[in-house]
Amino acid sequence: MAVKGEGRTLVVVLLMLLGFANIYTDAISDRMSFGFNEEADYIELGDFIETDGINMDSSSTCDFTQFGSNHSAVLPPLDECEKFKLIAGEIYHRGTSEDDKQSILEAHNKLRNKVAGGSEKKGNPGPQPSGANLIELVWNDQLAVSAQGWANQCAVKHDKAGNRQTCEYRTVGQNVAHKRGGKKNIPSTRRWDKIVNNLYNEVKNMPDYVVDKLQKVPKGSVGHYTQLIWAKTREVGCGAVFYYLYKEKKGKLRKTYGRTFVCNYGPSGNFKGGQVYERGSPASNCENGVSTTYENLCAPLSE
Ligand SMILES: *[C@@H]1O[C@H](CO)[C@@H](O)[C@H](O)[C@H]1NC(C)=O
Repeated sequence: MAVKGEGRTLVVVLLMLLGFANIYTDAISDRMSFGFNEEADYIELGDFIETDGINMDSSSTCDFTQFGSNHSAVLPPLDECEKFKLIAGEIYHRGTSEDDKQSILEAHNKLRNKVAGGSEKKGNPGPQPSGANLIELVWNDQLAVSAQGWANQCAVKHDKAGNRQTCEYRTVGQNVAHKRGGKKNIPSTRRWDKIVNNLYNEVKNMPDYVVDKLQKVPKGSVGHYTQLIWAKTREVGCGAVFYYLYKEKKGKLRKTYGRTFVCNYGPSGNFKGGQVYERGSPASNCENGVSTTYENLCAPLSE
């Protein structure tokens, strides 16, 4: 079939949730399907890797080698990623820019503010109760360095809990998302906004009673959602890699784009049996007053 252009551009998301023992986990999402961008049939060589944003020199803030030679921030970055049985292509972008960082924080905090304010009507059943103790998330560079380290490994599943810890957080939660297809040059800030909203969309599976005690849900999974809004998670740091992917078709290599996103959260949420957040009037149980930016959230503790 010789169809070209955006109409053929299917974007797929595969979302995975962290996998350590005392933590609620879910399976790989069933949203996986295949779509290819047919705009190029050949391998382009010579693209250089853009490295953006966060301080990749982690030694200034935390010596991750103390956690062993398999820690994600210590492993040497891979040059290419292979995904979904596709042929590996070069990584052409690593990192998160200052704009990405703002986009990530804004996306998270808008959604946390929405839930805390009691205006999320979705759920199974919904609506979601308003929350008394959700904190405004702030960025954490150590979490970002360990997330970028795992993204640099193409983030197959999750890294081991111990391999994502930081000098500040022993327990670190993690959301991983993979996307494939689309155009190379969509600004990554827009991608991040979509990714965070994709993770959040699991709210449709979230029974209102689960906020009191994290447990299995009747249908689908909620783990990305619950980590995203977990009240006592205070900080987030994310990393990303963008790469080419190829599929062999009738003797030609068809090119598409792959993107892997990793966010690490401190302290970790998603403890089985744990309280996702406390029900109550928005921001009515804050240790450090109400956020000046988000009326339904508590102010960051670090301020
Ligand atoms: C690192 O991982 C490899 C492969 O899984 C394993 O063989 C090795 O023992 C690990 N090293 C450490 C220090 O944990």
